[in-house]
Amino acid sequence: MADNCLEYTILIVDDEENILRSLRRQLVDLEYTVLTVSSGYQALELLDSREIAVIISDQRMPEMTGTEFLSLAKEKKPDTVRILLTAFCDMKDTVDAINKGEIFRYINKPWEEDELKRTVCEAVDRYVHNRETKRVVEELKRWSMQLEPWLCEKPDIGKSDASLPLVHERLQEDFESCLETFAGLIELSERRHRNHAMNVLELSRRIAEAMGVGAKELVDIRLAALLHDIGKSGIPDTILAKDDAHLTPDERLQYEQHPVRGQAAVYKVEILRDAGVLIRHHHEWVNGKGYPDGLLGDAIPIGARIIAVADALDRHAGNLSCGMRCGFVAALGSLEQDRGVKYDSAILRAAAPVAADLDEHVYGITDSEEEQVQPDDLQPGMRVSRDIRSGTDILIVPAGAELNHDNIISIQRLYALDPSHQSVFVCKTKL
Ligand SMILES: [Fe+2]
Ligand SMILES: [Fe+2]
Repeated sequence: MADNCLEYTILIVDDEENILRSLRRQLVDLEYTVLTVSSGYQALELLDSREIAVIISDQRMPEMTGTEFLSLAKEKKPDTVRILLTAFCDMKDTVDAINKGEIFRYINKPWEEDELKRTVCEAVDRYVHNRETKRVVEELKRWSMQLEPWLCEKPDIGKSDASLPLVHERLQEDFESCLETFAGLIELSERRHRNHAMNVLELSRRIAEAMGVGAKELVDIRLAALLHDIGKSGIPDTILAKDDAHLTPDERLQYEQHPVRGQAAVYKVEILRDAGVLIRHHHEWVNGKGYPDGLLGDAIPIGARIIAVADALDRHAGNLSCGMRCGFVAALGSLEQDRGVKYDSAILRAAAPVAADLDEHVYGITDSEEEQVQPDDLQPGMRVSRDIRSGTDILIVPAGAELNHDNIISIQRLYALDPSHQSVFVCKTKL
């Protein structure tokens, strides 16, 4: 469920006063702001002046039916999530509204209070997700506008131009930062696994290098590792917050679609298409009992097998409720029982020195070995000992990274724009 409930407003539209009263009473424990109006016209007026997260509208109203109103509401506020309250005899209109994408869910009268509450919570989660996605799309648009001058100034390829490698390098860096930002945003809805994408990227890269995979494959593995869980975007937070063992069959079905959705999400970007195949298969097991395709052994692309190990290692390594980690070596020990079942033996072997090295040089840091530094006093070459995050929890630089001129400027700018109450922690320089 979204963090600060009162921040979100639910609008109920019904011409019957007793229904408005009863819905309002039942939603009171959810602590959302609840508004009620008695007609579609009043509701449309309100939509002009208030940000509404979820609308619950009755179908049968004298001046304007629920489906007519919700279709106008969709035009006005496409991010607002719409729920239709219907009687059994309105089923044809309801099915129509669902097929036209006008509504998120319908609730049959008489409704079950628990089901109503669950539906409203899921609708708010959907609204938060819609808003977040819109923000990311705006960010991507802004980013591509910034790149446009570079692209317009593209030199004549026939002539040799000394600036060309620089432009290419700059585009590459911007593209990677953009993907990192995107991966960070996905993790906002799964806070148990902070910094997961960056950790999976680092583990996968090191394991792949240790196994001697080719250069092109290595690029795809890095991209796929960073975006492997992109398909979780859109899955309700209530499902993401649960441990695997506690998912209901329905929730599991939704969760297990994330690799396929992830592949579909990146399919339009041509340079991510091969990485998309690895994203699709990162939950396959070597014994053929994984998902989505039940591929067996070597039929699973090696990059996907590597990401599967890196993913599991980071999940087992994190004891994230207290911000501490048990370490990758210990995590690797817990994956042993699934050697040859879920995980490829050769990859677990290659992961052992990687895990030991990361524990020792990146996470094996005690309090006495770190110091607090003000952003203005950061120097290139310092190594970050804890994740650096902005005030709203956006990851700026992960633990273990070595600072350079560019990331110091980013930290200083983001600390000014989105102030954090936390200092920056770096490793003490050994004398
Ligand atoms: Fe996943
Ligand atoms: Fe993951």
